[in-house]
Amino acid sequence: MNYNVAVIPGDGIGPEIVREACKVLDKIGVKYGHEFKYTEVLMGGVSIDATGVPLTEEALATAKASDSVLLGAVGGNVGQSNWYKLPPNLRPEAGLLAIRKGLGLFCNLRPAVLFSQLKGACPLKDEIIGDGFDFVVVRELTGGVYFGERKTVTENGIRKAVDTMPYDENEIRRIARWAFEVAMKRGKRVVSVDKANVLDTSRLWRQVVKEVAREYPEVEVSDMLVDNCAMQMVRDPKQFDVVLTENMFGDILSDEASMVTGSIGMLASASLGETKLGLYEPSHGSAPDIAGQNKANPIATILSAAMMLRYSFDLLDEADRIEAAVKQVLDEGYRTVDIMSEGCTLVGTKEMGDLIAERI
Ligand code: IPM
Ligand code: MG
Repeated sequence: MNYNVAVIPGDGIGPEIVREACKVLDKIGVKYGHEFKYTEVLMGGVSIDATGVPLTEEALATAKASDSVLLGAVGGNVGQSNWYKLPPNLRPEAGLLAIRKGLGLFCNLRPAVLFSQLKGACPLKDEIIGDGFDFVVVRELTGGVYFGERKTVTENGIRKAVDTMPYDENEIRRIARWAFEVAMKRGKRVVSVDKANVLDTSRLWRQVVKEVAREYPEVEVSDMLVDNCAMQMVRDPKQFDVVLTENMFGDILSDEASMVTGSIGMLASASLGETKLGLYEPSHGSAPDIAGQNKANPIATILSAAMMLRYSFDLLDEADRIEAAVKQVLDEGYRTVDIMSEGCTLVGTKEMGDLIAERI
């Protein structure tokens, strides 16, 4: 089969990690008889430099016309880059929000997996880690406070800012269904996270999640307040299978989830909607401080490409093959600097990509 992949290298380490992911995809193509055709799309700071905006209409249209989108990272150094002197709606991150919204990608899957080979990097105590954990945060991605009305005004000489957090039942229902569907393919447990002791949106969230839960009698479901969830993730991450939550809580909890694994350079993510078109990106950022130095870990992006094969193209064997190749390289002791430990072999971005591609 032929697949059209819109590739967004973006900023910082984006281009170098995406290059390695494409290398691995090409190897999959040769082995399984597929052709991946890449169309480069500008987004983020590089797009601002070239066009004045973080995502042009044409760039969005190219992404829309593709079968799937692979993204490196966007954004620069907030303190230093000129991009952050621009109004917020013209900064690199605005491109990311615009593409999510423009492609209707309301469902963000962020797996948090402890790779047994990298146990040493996990900041939690051995008795908490046990035999490891593996859960996924299902984050609502195109609603809530990220997309509600906001304004900054001065009233009677006092500066005031307002952000609003709207959710309607349809937005909640469709993301809840995704979480239950994911749970059905995993451990059949959903924890729905909210702040129902304070927020109306959370009280509606709870009601709608309960309604959806009736469609999935096999799935065990419970509610958890977001502050408690933040605590439970470090106290006992093994208790989680699928964590379902709204946009901002999901942003925060997914960073925490990645940190407890100790290896954010390994974590992939998928943003999905109602069609097969998805956007796949590493959970980490653009790391401008190490950009272009062949130091970045390309594994999160390579695993994001595997998620693309699984969710957008239904190429399950091929996705498994990539994940197995990653594990093999880790078993053989190869590490990029972020996951380096004693006795292992230090390799750069390109070498890590080569090693994984060779093992496909
Ligand atoms: C993420 C990022 C983005 C978000 C930023 C860059 C807008 O933190 O993907 O988690 O908050 O969604
Ligand atoms: Mg975030």
